[in-house]
Amino acid sequence: MKTASFGAVNRAAAGAAGASSGGKTVMITGVSKGLGRALALELAKRGHTIIGCSRAQDKLNSLQSELSSDHNNHHLLLIADVRSNSSVEELARAVIEKKGVPDIIVNNAVPLTETTRYGKFQRKSLTL
Ligand SMILES: NC(=O)c1ccc[n+]([C@@H]2O[C@H](COP(=O)([O-])OP(=O)(O)OC[C@H]3O[C@@H](n4cnc5c(N)ncnc54)[C@H](OP(=O)(O)O)[C@@H]3O)[C@@H](O)[C@H]2O)c1
Repeated sequence: MKTASFGAVNRAAAGAAGASSGGKTVMITGVSKGLGRALALELAKRGHTIIGCSRAQDKLNSLQSELSSDHNNHHLLLIADVRSNSSVEELARAVIEKKGVPDIIVNNAVPLTETTRYGKFQRKSLTL
């Protein structure tokens, strides 16, 4: 499993998009709007399976409709708050149960707090 911070979103998209055999399963946090939503729609269009989370059910419903417009219903969108350990644990359990371990995780929903702004991030290669 690969993980990616926001700075690696483009590399994640490029890596997933460049996959030579079959689609990847890409989990994107903060998928209901903004960059996360745009990435989800683009990767789905390229044949990848999207697993996404955010806090607002109505926005997830809207994205689910858009993702399913090509008659592909294999995407999985779930309510979760990434600031809550219990919510993230519940999300992880549901994802693994329904889809297995994702190929790529894009940690997009990282609220800019003092901790996230100045915390240490580990740079990982996203070569697929
Ligand atoms: N846009 C930029 O120019 C820019 C520049 C530098 C860095 N970034 C970073 O890139 C990321 C995305 O930016 P954006 O502009 O696309 O943001 P955005 O439009 O505000 O979207 C944020 C997404 O994250 C979700 N979210 C927020 N808090 C969450 C939480 N606690 N748990 C789960 N989901 C949560 C939101 O959905 P709900 O509210 O429904 O939960 C939404 O889907 C952020 O981490 C931002 O700090 C953006």
